[in-house]
Amino acid sequence: MRIGVLTAGGDCPGLNAVIRSVVHRAVDNYGDEVLGFEDGYAGLLDGRYRSLDLNGVSGILARGGTILGSSRLERDRLREACGHLAEEARDFGIDALIPIGGEGTLTAARMLSDAGLPVVGVPKTIDNDISSTDRTFGFDTAVGVATEAMDRLKTTAESHQRVMVVEVMGRHAGWIALESGMAAGAHGICLPERPFDPADLVKMVEERFSRGKKFAVVCVAEGAHPAEGTMDYGKGAIDQFGHERFQGIGTALAYELERRLGKEAKPVILGHVQRGGTPTAFDRVLATRFGWHAVEAAHRGDFGRMTALKGNDIVMVPLAEAVTELKTVPKDRMLEAESVF
Ligand code: F6P
Repeated sequence: MRIGVLTAGGDCPGLNAVIRSVVHRAVDNYGDEVLGFEDGYAGLLDGRYRSLDLNGVSGILARGGTILGSSRLERDRLREACGHLAEEARDFGIDALIPIGGEGTLTAARMLSDAGLPVVGVPKTIDNDISSTDRTFGFDTAVGVATEAMDRLKTTAESHQRVMVVEVMGRHAGWIALESGMAAGAHGICLPERPFDPADLVKMVEERFSRGKKFAVVCVAEGAHPAEGTMDYGKGAIDQFGHERFQGIGTALAYELERRLGKEAKPVILGHVQRGGTPTAFDRVLATRFGWHAVEAAHRGDFGRMTALKGNDIVMVPLAEAVTELKTVPKDRMLEAESVF
């Protein structure tokens, strides 16, 4: 069998672990040929690929990023390119294509599958917002990085009696903010799923200081918004990939808290630090299992589906189901987090 593999969209710790696992299972067990397309779907469109063998994936399990490179394609371009992509894949004699990516990549995978291409998707994103899988790899790593950052910020905040406003990734879903905020014992957590009132944060900080505490940490997701009329903060324009250009909620909120409290408040934007570097053991294992199951699915002819984690099991779910809606933080998870403020 000739298998094509590509990584598309924002990178994520664990991508290399999937590539390695696909190659090991496919080459070692089935004697397959694996072609790695470069820079996501762009490589498939332009015919840029390399043959991947066991040597080519040696030593990459713990390496962040992706050895194949990644890119985003604009939605409209992708839609237009779909027929062409399917043709290219057929010309290369691809018997199974394994695109590894987030919501945009899997939507394209679904379109390719609808166009008749044998596709097995593998979900990835540090945001953990893909429905139909309990977890995506990369999330555990990002939560670990954000948690460690907040642990560190607490000691310096306390020395200077400051409020730290830590902005983490999460456009539409606040999973990173929720779990890193909980793990680090943040005193306030703001999620995209629920508009916040800065007055509540002011109250929380004042109450802490009145009890003799000398600092506070607020964890805010980049996609969080203040409730209507509570603070000046505009919605950003939409870029060519259909993403909102954020106005910097961490910085805006820190200034707002400083103004209202008369205490120093510092914004800390963690940004792409959360996506870089070596994956955690959990993410390496999940990524490796996804790669193994993707190859098995290809050999069973189980196409138009993606790997998913359900409890402790890896199962296959229809791509159509996976990309219909984002998995956002449910209300009961927010309530659990509130109880630790
Ligand atoms: O979707 C993953 C993600 O890391 C988001 O959390 C973040 O908003 C976005 O990608 C950033 O993308 P880029 O690398 O294009 O700036």
